Amino acid sequence: MFSLLALSLVASLAVAKPTMVVHERIQAAPIGFTTMRSADPSTMLNMRIALKQNDMVGLEDALMAVSDPASALYGQHLTKEQVEAFVRPKPETVAAVNAFLAENGINATSISPAGDWLAFSIPVSKANDLFEADFTVFSHAETGTSAVRTLAYSVPAELRNAIDLVHPTITFPNPIGLKPSFSAPLPTVGKRQIPASCNTTITPACLQALYGIPTTRATQSTNILGVSVIEQFANQADLTQFLRAFRADNANATFATQLLDGGSNPQTRSQAGIEANLDIQYTVGLATGVPTTFISVGENFKDGNLEGFLDIINALLAENNPPKVLTTSYGQNENTISRQLATQLCNAYMQLGARGTSILFASGDGGVAGSQTTRCTTFLPTFPSGCPFMTSVGATQGVNPERAASFSSGGFSNFFAIPSYQAAAVSAFKTRLGSTNAGKFNTTGRGFPDVAAQGVNFQIVLDTQTGGVSGTSCSSPMFASIVSLVNDRLIAAGKPSLGFLNPFLYSAAGTATLTDVTAGNNPGCNTNGFTATTGWDPVTGLGTPNFARLLAAAMAL
Ligand SMILES: *[C@@H]1O[C@H](CO)[C@@H](O)[C@H](O)[C@H]1NC(C)=O
Ligand SMILES: *[C@@H]1O[C@H](CO)[C@@H](O)[C@H](O)[C@H]1NC(C)=O
Ligand SMILES: *[C@@H]1O[C@H](CO)[C@@H](O)[C@H](O)[C@H]1NC(C)=O
Ligand SMILES: *[C@@H]1O[C@H](CO)[C@@H](O)[C@H](O)[C@H]1NC(C)=O
Repeated sequence: MFSLLALSLVASLAVAKPTMVVHERIQAAPIGFTTMRSADPSTMLNMRIALKQNDMVGLEDALMAVSDPASALYGQHLTKEQVEAFVRPKPETVAAVNAFLAENGINATSISPAGDWLAFSIPVSKANDLFEADFTVFSHAETGTSAVRTLAYSVPAELRNAIDLVHPTITFPNPIGLKPSFSAPLPTVGKRQIPASCNTTITPACLQALYGIPTTRATQSTNILGVSVIEQFANQADLTQFLRAFRADNANATFATQLLDGGSNPQTRSQAGIEANLDIQYTVGLATGVPTTFISVGENFKDGNLEGFLDIINALLAENNPPKVLTTSYGQNENTISRQLATQLCNAYMQLGARGTSILFASGDGGVAGSQTTRCTTFLPTFPSGCPFMTSVGATQGVNPERAASFSSGGFSNFFAIPSYQAAAVSAFKTRLGSTNAGKFNTTGRGFPDVAAQGVNFQIVLDTQTGGVSGTSCSSPMFASIVSLVNDRLIAAGKPSLGFLNPFLYSAAGTATLTDVTAGNNPGCNTNGFTATTGWDPVTGLGTPNFARLLAAAMAL
């Protein structure tokens, strides 16, 4: 009734301005950004509105029911229609917001399968007027990133419960993401069991030996492994050179490409991206025979990366057979995103998880200082690792023993509370921790990473050159490859894919499949960070994978 009333109110007061209320506000632009000037009134803004979703509490319950091995519904992933029924905004919500936009001459289009996101383009002058905003040009001196943003905006009081957020407003583009660097070529390793060189130089043979990854071909065509990137190109010739050098038994492997938002994947070798090549070489190169799709978002959203990642999830949600595993080597500091926008993106992962997709992200490369080394006084959790509906992958290095990589980001979210599946594990860690780092992290936040895998000096081929890259960017695709290989055997046996992994991984049976990492730490913010220890820790999570153990436990579910 409330919303219908709001609708007629807006319609009858077409000439009067509705009462506006501040919807989101920040005190100042993020550190590093300076105010340049008022935005040109004619500059066009690609705006999005997130509408209040129908029943995300219900969807979370459904996600946990199909993902928790102890539940009778385990593995019974939801259909596209079932997920959309939880997400689709109430008709009166959609009508009220569309009426407000139409009053102002705006024709919005729906950009998500459940209709919870609307998009439209309007000039700055109109956006300032419509949302009582002050769109301003901000510049990030260090990187040259510039962005049109406002420090606050308002929405009509009648719509405050219908609109979750308007973007781009108070969330600034992230000037620093995960950027693995490419170092000088290094010698390759031989074929023995865990060659000694694996202590310092990682190749597919090292990972196969260390984690028991099989080389037998997967057989299931529906078992897609998705690899998502923003504006980076993955090169097939570099992949082939990589496979000939390191996977001669699988040298003809290729990948499919799925492009969004004006994306492309040109094959000029000098244009290949480090991240794109790394991700493709350590998925195609490890998940033998698993159909792998390179998903790339183009330049239509130069204005930050979050829109691109949202578009990827919405595109996959619109598919009848979305990937069974999705890996993304990306993370940014949680404090660079509004709480509302972070929640919306996290909700999108919840939806895909309920469909049966395992979503993995790199945890970040700045230790407790966030996605990259940063000056800080309190620890900086990364996004989306703080989201409880995805699996965050930290990094390790060395063999005998495998220990934490010092850059492996980990910590506790300031946005998302501890999910029930990890409550016992996190609590046990805090008991061991005592008063160390007290006051530097949020004691009620979701802990991350969930798991870890090798992440130092992975040999890749980039523009014909072989060299090493390091970062949790290495760890996520390789962990994803193992999950995909397990899914292949599960599907072949007529069983469901693993889907959202965490409730299983934190269960006794799941934890027993992982190798606990108990050495190393992740310094940052003038501290030693956290120390890897027995059980879960915010450096290496529950530990590193083992294919045979994971497969046996998964088959027993
Ligand atoms: C709004 O835009 C859509 C697609 O861009 C178009 O099909 C529709 O006719 C438009 N509606 C109005 C009222 O202009
Ligand atoms: C592995 O490398 C570390 C650090 O470089 C070194 O301390 C350790 O002895 C090496 N272990 C082996 C088995 O070579
Ligand atoms: C790759 O394809 C070529 C040509 O079809 C074939 O001769 C070769 O055996 C294949 N190699 C592998 C490893 O499958
Ligand atoms: C700590 O995390 C909780 C979520 O568990 C959040 O609601 C709260 O705002 C966070 N505190 C700070 C100071 O960020």
